[in-house]
Amino acid sequence: MIGLLVKNATLADGRKVDIACAGGKIAEVSPVITAEARETIDATGCLVSPPFIDAHFHMDATLSLGLPRYNQSGTLLEGIRLWGELKPLLTHEAVIERAMRYCDLAVSQGLLAIRTHVDVCDDRLLCVEALLEVRKRVKPYIDLQLVAFPQDGFYRDPSARTNLLRALDLGVDVVGGIPHGERTMADGARSMTELCAIAAERGLLVDIHCDETDDPWSRHVEALVYETQRLGLKGRVVGSHLTSMHSMDNYYASKLIGLMAEAELHATPNPLINITLQGRHDTYPKRRGMTRVPELRAAGITVSFGHDCVMDPWYPLGQGDMLEAASMGIHVALMTSPEQMRWAFDAVTVNPAKALHLEGYGIEKGCNADFVVLQAKNPVEALRLKANRLKVIRRGKVIAETPERVAALHLDGRPATVNGADYAPRA
Ligand code: FE2
Repeated sequence: MIGLLVKNATLADGRKVDIACAGGKIAEVSPVITAEARETIDATGCLVSPPFIDAHFHMDATLSLGLPRYNQSGTLLEGIRLWGELKPLLTHEAVIERAMRYCDLAVSQGLLAIRTHVDVCDDRLLCVEALLEVRKRVKPYIDLQLVAFPQDGFYRDPSARTNLLRALDLGVDVVGGIPHGERTMADGARSMTELCAIAAERGLLVDIHCDETDDPWSRHVEALVYETQRLGLKGRVVGSHLTSMHSMDNYYASKLIGLMAEAELHATPNPLINITLQGRHDTYPKRRGMTRVPELRAAGITVSFGHDCVMDPWYPLGQGDMLEAASMGIHVALMTSPEQMRWAFDAVTVNPAKALHLEGYGIEKGCNADFVVLQAKNPVEALRLKANRLKVIRRGKVIAETPERVAALHLDGRPATVNGADYAPRA
């Protein structure tokens, strides 16, 4: 028996289909399904997409904006200092409560898979234990991956190494790092060697905050791709941020991108954050400070846009809307051709699914029955409108709904209602 039948869906590739769900899986996708179902949704005129995915987030810090004070300079370094002031004041319960509230927001936005870094530079491992609890609580509706992140430096913080290993022993999923945060370039490169070795030995994935600076000589990604190759980790490693690539010499960048492609490194730029954190030491012109997205993409590298932060020491805004992150990516990377904008939708859906090694993702027979019905006709319109999530479905059940967004106008002689999705260019 079909539990849920979605009629007249428009998929991201333009196909018009019906989607039948049974037992939490997609049982059939075809132009017309006539079988009986317990529940039917009419998705006429709506894009139906697999759920949004955030490939890079910091759930231990989210919704802590203003605690214990605001970031006045707007720099990454003040954000890290501020987080260091907040850490001793955190409680297990408060971290869980903020993370759970963020997860509610995420579900309302159709964001059903999140890779979050969790700071391990704390002998109490308070954030690790809190987010392990959150991962368990949200499991029915969000796939939460945890990355052991040595925020204060794997070598620079004397207990980071021990605490990172403790966090992995407790069940944290992925190995993280921050080579540009170490005291020397040599230590940064050495941390890539050791962290990748830990991942290889334990059979884990890797996700490194790599070269998140405007310094063109911050080239730790070179060491990361070398270790990826040496240890047989191809396709299992993500370089997050990679902002120094923006400022690098073009010749070196072209060599580097080839090496990254060869190692099948995935890239996760975070446009909302990097457009505000980078370039802060510049007068004018101010660099955009996001990595070279079109060039990475042209080399065949899987690029995902992450959100990174929402209302925390590094970023005061955000609402868990991956369409907002992708829209900023389009702007910062100057990717406004129809084909590039269409790709940006993949950068918050199918691309991060690949980088995070998610199983059963997509709208095909046999995949998990997880998807979002959007108040938009196609991916580019969804990006333009930051489209309303009419229904969010997980394992064949509706877990969130938002009413259609329509404005009522009170103007003489003009239409009575306005819906952004009705707008299209006219001759
Ligand atoms: Fe980050």
